[in-house]
Amino acid sequence: MSALGQLCEQIALCRQCDIAKSRNKVVPGEGAENAEIMFIGEAPGWHEDQQGRPFVGAAGQFLDKLLASIGLDRRQVYIANVIKCRPPNNRDPLPIEIRNCRGWLDRQIEIISPRMIVTLGRFSMAMFFPGKSISKVHGTASRQGDVIYYAMYHPAAALHQQSLRQDIEADMLKIPSLLAQARPAPEIKAPPQPQQLNMFEV
Ligand code: URA
Repeated sequence: MSALGQLCEQIALCRQCDIAKSRNKVVPGEGAENAEIMFIGEAPGWHEDQQGRPFVGAAGQFLDKLLASIGLDRRQVYIANVIKCRPPNNRDPLPIEIRNCRGWLDRQIEIISPRMIVTLGRFSMAMFFPGKSISKVHGTASRQGDVIYYAMYHPAAALHQQSLRQDIEADMLKIPSLLAQARPAPEIKAPPQPQQLNMFEV
């Protein structure tokens, strides 16, 4: 089994937080182990808790459409959440839950080693753009080392609010060119040097 598969099995056994008692299924994440882009949402909702898969409800269908707008589908990226268990009644994740789950997310990022991390919503944004407000930071990127971090609104928030929907659609369209910038420049081979002619050789 792949390193990521093994990690997801370990995540599925985690009982660090009280919400482990009320969950139906853990939602570790899914997608390509070698994905160039990793999307990080907030927490599983009811549908995700039923299926053990991220973003499979209404917000997920919208995320699929957004991905399609840039020619991608979810199997080509990796989708995870800040916390892996559903908070009861879809309440916000607690700071202790975010802290407990952080190690799992860091390990996922380490294994996948994406060129670009896209945060969906404010909880995910707060991890990589600390102290920033989502209304200011959405649609902007910051490069740290070899990785580009990019903040977007959460698809669930944008789904029913027309102005946010326009923003999230426009922000998604910026991803391909940011990703192109994150790829290493192609190696330019030096042209073959003309052979030195030895005038004295017959
Ligand atoms: N919202 C999230 O943040 N994550 C999911 O997986 C589903 C809805």
